[in-house]
Amino acid sequence: MTGDALVLLVDDDPGARKVARGNLGLEGFEVLLASSGAEALARLSESDPLAVVSDLRMPDLDGIELMAAVHAARPGLPFVLVTAHATVETAVEAMRRGAVHYLTKPIRFDELALVLRHAVEGERARRDVVLLRGELERAAGFEELVGSSPAMRQVFTMVDQVAPTDATVLLRGETGTGKELVARAIHRRSGRHARPFVAVNCTAVPRELMESEFFGHEKGAFTGAVARRVGRFEQAHGSTLFLDEVGDLDPAVQAKLLRVLQEQEITRVGARDAVRVDVRIVTATNRDLEAAVKEGRFRDDLYYRLNVIPLQLPPLRERPQDLPALLQHFLGSFSERYGRPVPALPPEGLAALQGYAWPGNVRELRNLCERAVLMGWAGVLSMVGAARTEEVAFVDTALPLLEARQRLVERFEREYLTRLLRQQRGRVGEVARAAGIAERNLYEKMKAYGLSRDDYR
Ligand SMILES: Nc1ncnc2c1ncn2[C@@H]1O[C@H](COP(=O)(O)OP(=O)(O)OP(=O)(O)O)[C@@H](O)[C@H]1O
Ligand SMILES: [Mg+2]
Repeated sequence: MTGDALVLLVDDDPGARKVARGNLGLEGFEVLLASSGAEALARLSESDPLAVVSDLRMPDLDGIELMAAVHAARPGLPFVLVTAHATVETAVEAMRRGAVHYLTKPIRFDELALVLRHAVEGERARRDVVLLRGELERAAGFEELVGSSPAMRQVFTMVDQVAPTDATVLLRGETGTGKELVARAIHRRSGRHARPFVAVNCTAVPRELMESEFFGHEKGAFTGAVARRVGRFEQAHGSTLFLDEVGDLDPAVQAKLLRVLQEQEITRVGARDAVRVDVRIVTATNRDLEAAVKEGRFRDDLYYRLNVIPLQLPPLRERPQDLPALLQHFLGSFSERYGRPVPALPPEGLAALQGYAWPGNVRELRNLCERAVLMGWAGVLSMVGAARTEEVAFVDTALPLLEARQRLVERFEREYLTRLLRQQRGRVGEVARAAGIAERNLYEKMKAYGLSRDDYR
């Protein structure tokens, strides 16, 4: 740690304050003391600590109320709660409300120091990141999260609040709503940003290989294990591990994952000893996890572990006010990439786009923008118009029967192939096999429906 880090410690017990100041002093912290929530807020207005440690039970403001007041003044400031009476519910509640950590009394000061060191580093990094953010976002181009609707602003606020903590985040939302983008944003804004973000798609890895994918294996652990392999958890040590499509995880792997999250150590397949890992977990799914829990396909204990901070991404059709900014963003990026002028949207175009249901959400919009840059708006708008008409009446009596049926078949095929492509992460061979059609045939259909494997990798 560079220089003594200033932390604010709040406890109504004078003896506890004294012991804490002494012990944390030895660990290299400068400690400001407060005996109540009110005094803590006063200290905060005249100083700039990098973290707060507070007792949970205090006469005036309790620790959780104090945390809310502190976060109102200093969003994201690391907050550690300490209590004599720990229950799982209060711990979960504390984390959900934004605590970075939760400790029980009697305090082990080596443990508290460790937690604080981590929090302080995160806070310092976050402050640097906040300063740099403007620049970074400009440089990031496609990595940028765009949107100014109330729903998206709420998402950005949540991202800012949870990013610097180590809290586990569960991202929900329809396909193409930006779950992966948000997962990356959380990582970039966290104290772990200097290390690479590690992503695993839980559907893409065959069941038999999942354990080795997650935890690695020793040479010779099983047939085909010709060399030792480091798993994703170890790769993500000190960083963020993103488990995408977590709802599809095999039950046997769910049990192992739960153990790792509880114990924070992994055992490589075929190894004798466990290895400690420090990994921040972010997961995503577009499935109904609660239903999966009810039906016994997803472990409820794992569900609670992962669902500490739920973050729901709104579908694009519910926030048409974001369209202008998203259009500008994607059209600008693609025109730059292809060296083409930005195609002007005809006057009635925006209304047409805002009325469209966007089943593929922002990803679909992005693809349409690419098409518009390359081929102009006419084709895109007529597709959107046709889709809208189709939504109004999928049984279209204005068309002859055969043609109406053909339209419906196409719509079905497009959706069918989209889902398979997503499941198989764009592996065309697998999709063709699953669909029982020839690869050449599949390519033709994808072309006809404007589907690109690159969108699903
Ligand atoms: N708010 C946004 N601003 C800018 N680009 C976005 C936004 N949301 C999504 N995108 C872009 O849309 C595409 C799809 O986003 P992403 O892959 O994060 O979706 P997803 O929710 O993970 O979808 P799926 O469930 O299909 O995996 C990406 O190219 C992403 O950059
Ligand atoms: Mg995704």
